[in-house]
Amino acid sequence: MSSVRFGLANIPNPVDFKGRQNQTHTHHLGGQNRYSLYDPHYLLENAVSNIICFIVFGKRYDYDDSTFRDILNLVRENMKIATQFWAQIFNAFGFVRHLPLPHQKIFKNVKIILGFLRKVLEEHKRTRVPEQPRDYIDCYLDEMDKEQKDDNKSTFDDENLFTCVGDLFVAGTETTSASLEWCLFYMMLYPDIQEKCREEIDKIRGTRDHLDYEDRVNMPYTQAVLQEVQRFASVVPLGVAHSSTKDVQLNGYTIPKGMTIITDLSSLHYDEGQWKYPHEFHPENFLNEDGELKKVDSFLPFSAGNTG
Ligand code: HEM
Repeated sequence: MSSVRFGLANIPNPVDFKGRQNQTHTHHLGGQNRYSLYDPHYLLENAVSNIICFIVFGKRYDYDDSTFRDILNLVRENMKIATQFWAQIFNAFGFVRHLPLPHQKIFKNVKIILGFLRKVLEEHKRTRVPEQPRDYIDCYLDEMDKEQKDDNKSTFDDENLFTCVGDLFVAGTETTSASLEWCLFYMMLYPDIQEKCREEIDKIRGTRDHLDYEDRVNMPYTQAVLQEVQRFASVVPLGVAHSSTKDVQLNGYTIPKGMTIITDLSSLHYDEGQWKYPHEFHPENFLNEDGELKKVDSFLPFSAGNTG
């Protein structure tokens, strides 16, 4: 892509969510009482995905929208199959591609998910007003028009747009909602840590009804807890496989062109030489003696190296 930042700033008020999210959240929990068993999975997944959908294609989906729920279930099912035995066999031995093994379900699901996204794209093309972008897709289409006019060798095209939309939708939903689920889990497991977060949040929030993103710099403990959740849960333990485009020398090793490279992020996250408490859930892993947030080089939940 010739320019990654192509005018998302033009979207008017991209994350005007708070009111509506609260409303649907309350609605969804309406039937619960303090003794009900409650699985927050779908609620979190839907909420996270709505933020992505709103920024990428200007839409949010109700919590009881069965079509959207089906799509999210397919995304989740694919993540599950992709991390299981047969998918690893498929990655290692391409010849199993056509065998009737569980990985075939991934391809079937992808077809349905892409069909859903294709409809969204087609609708955008029908309804957009050039240079009045509503969301990421409109911004991309405006940029595509510009580059085509300039007769540049552009990398902006329909297929690239489709891939970017699919990437944002799929890569962001399950990772973020799984992280939030782990967060809830650890807060239930460690109520004393939960209480300390609450105290810090209440102190910084004061009389306001919400926190702003900028407030996080004054919340070292809560940030340390969030990072500790990411370290301890390591939701993408092996990163995403990459491949070298040429022979590379690294620390005395030769990595030949075409070699598959897997980043073992979880080994870093539990490395006994790097962490004070490698095998325990301890926000202190990210705090210095003065209670300030410290940067730890071996913390790489979003993977290593330059992907930009
Ligand atoms: C806590 C949440 C998340 C975690 C733990 C996470 C983790 C990761 C990891 C480990 C990679 C592989 C990077 C690499 O090896 O090059 C990745 C790639 C990616 N993530 Fe996330 N991610 C999260 C949230 C998101 C969100 C919210 C979005 C977008 C809406 C997103 C979009 C992407 C995309 C597009 C890629 C591919 C980047 C590339 O190919 O260079 N992720 N993510």
